[in-house]
Amino acid sequence: MNLHSFSAAFLVADVVKVFNPQSPQARAIFDLAIVVIVVMVVIFAVVVGIVMYALLGFPRWREGERDPEQVEGNNTIEIVWTAIPLAIVTILFVLSARTMGISDPPPPPKPDIVVIGHQWWWEARYTNSGAIVANEIHIPVGKAVALRLDSVDVLHEFWVPELARKLTTVPGHPNHLWIQADKPATYLGFCTEFCGTQHAWMHFLLVAEPQEEFQKWEQAQLAPAPPPASENAQKGLALFEQMTCVNCHAIKGTIASATFGPDLTHFASRKQLGAGIVANTPENLRRWLHDPQQVKIGAKMPNFKFTDEQVTQLADYIETLK
Ligand code: CUA
Repeated sequence: MNLHSFSAAFLVADVVKVFNPQSPQARAIFDLAIVVIVVMVVIFAVVVGIVMYALLGFPRWREGERDPEQVEGNNTIEIVWTAIPLAIVTILFVLSARTMGISDPPPPPKPDIVVIGHQWWWEARYTNSGAIVANEIHIPVGKAVALRLDSVDVLHEFWVPELARKLTTVPGHPNHLWIQADKPATYLGFCTEFCGTQHAWMHFLLVAEPQEEFQKWEQAQLAPAPPPASENAQKGLALFEQMTCVNCHAIKGTIASATFGPDLTHFASRKQLGAGIVANTPENLRRWLHDPQQVKIGAKMPNFKFTDEQVTQLADYIETLK
C-alpha cells in the first residue's frame, strides 16, 4: 500500500468512527448529529420536491398565457415561512446547548492529564503521578478524565473520533476537554488542524484499560530507565549522552532531561514510532536513527549521520527502555 492510499484509508476510517461513539460525550454528539441530519434531509426533500413540482408541473410559459396568480403581500404565507425556519433553528439551538452541557461540563480546578501538541507529536503529563509520555495516552476505562490541552508551537487539534469532540490546542491559551471510554480498547487519535509538513502524521493512541492495569502502566512509566545491560547498550548510552541527543530528549535516570523532543524513558513500551508513521520495531528504530528525514520528512530531528556501529549501539540501548 503506498502512502496515498494509506492516508485515504485512514480518512475513510475517521469518518466511519464518528458513527461509532464509545463514550457518553461522543454519544451525545452522535445523537444530536442524527437529529440534525434528519431535519436537513426533510428540508432537502421538501425544497427539491417543490422545485421538481414547479419544473415538471409547469413546463413552460407560452406567449399569450396569463401570469400565474401573484401572492405578494400575503400575510399568511409570510408568517408561515418565517415561523417554520425560526422554530427549526430554535429547536436545534436548544438541542445543541443541551448536548454541550452533556459533552462539556465545566472543568475541575486541576486536570488529570496535560496534553501538549508539538510539531509533530503529542506529549502527555499526568498531573497526579508526574508520569510523562509521548504519543500513547493511557486512561482508566469508564471514568471521565479531565484533559488540559496546550501547544508549544502552533495550533494543533486533538481528536479521538470515537470518544470526544475535537478541540484546538492554542499556544498560551489552555483548553479543556473531558475524555471517557466505555470499553477497554485502543482508540486512534489525530491532529485535525493543519500544523505544518507532518500534520498528517501526528497520530496518537488512546489506550483505555481497567483501573488496575492503568495503575500498573502508570507506575511503570514513573520508573527510571534501567541501567544498560550489554556492552553495546552501555556504549549506546554513552553516545546518547555525548552527542546532542540530550539537548532534546529526556531519559529518566540519565543526565538527559530536555523536553523539546519526546521523553524516551519508556520508548520501547510504545507501539508506534514517529507519532504513528511506522510501527515501533527494532528495524524501524534503526532506519530512524540512520536518517529520521527518510522516515518522516520534515521531522525536527536532523540526520546525525551516525555510523552503522553507532546506530547499533544506540538502538541496542534504546530498545531496552521498556
Ligand atoms: Cu498538529 Cu496538525
